Amino acid sequence: MVVEERGAGLAPGSPAPQCLLPRLKGRLGRPCRYVGTVSSTQDVLAAWKDAPEGALVVAERQTRGRGRLGRPWVSPPGNLYFSVLLREADPLLPLRAGLALVEAVGLGILKWPNDLLSPDGRKMGGILVERSGPRGLLGVGINVERAPLPTSAAVLEFQKVERVQILADFLWSLEQWRARAGEEVLRHWKSRNATLGREAVVQVGGRTLFGQAVDLGPNGELVLRTEKGITLVRAGDVGFP
Ligand code: BTN
Repeated sequence: MVVEERGAGLAPGSPAPQCLLPRLKGRLGRPCRYVGTVSSTQDVLAAWKDAPEGALVVAERQTRGRGRLGRPWVSPPGNLYFSVLLREADPLLPLRAGLALVEAVGLGILKWPNDLLSPDGRKMGGILVERSGPRGLLGVGINVERAPLPTSAAVLEFQKVERVQILADFLWSLEQWRARAGEEVLRHWKSRNATLGREAVVQVGGRTLFGQAVDLGPNGELVLRTEKGITLVRAGDVGFP
């Protein structure tokens, strides 16, 4: 399924397979399905029943892009939206993917677990890990050309980049981070983060926790020191008061 966008030619930096495939250095990213408008690349990948490990779906825009914790992911043209199939279950995958994201974009800082923030603290990218039976669907959204919300930023505000190069670099970097030991992942994540050492407001399910973000647990949990003691947060949304 290949839908060529924007008339007869491809826009500079297009993530279409003919531009992407020559730049891939590893196994992730093949085979690749490039689509125009879809509900969500996660849906397309979930429906691709015989997709092998590393299969990739890239879209130009999404009508029902979704983020973590049931939030929408606003997906206008000009940004990057893709999903990769990973068969291996790994509790540190969200952190590994966050490290690949910051490396591929080449700037920014990570908010737990894997939001990419611009140097001035606006959201520039995010990662959603979903399961479809035994399969892991890793979805990535990066605001390359357009900041869709007043609270978000676009990479182009800071540097000139090509979407296809960010995508190729992400896939290669993720492959490297997946091969590295857990302690190394935790150590590197701590050196690129905007969360630890700060007072934080964490939404967990229906609850709001206030405390100091002090560390990461062995499986990438956020260790929060609250008035009542230490709490390990497995999934939640961090804000700063
Ligand atoms: C977040 O920060 O909340 C995660 C955002 C993940 C968005 C990406 S865009 C590609 C893939 N398809 C989706 O519907 N969501 C992910």
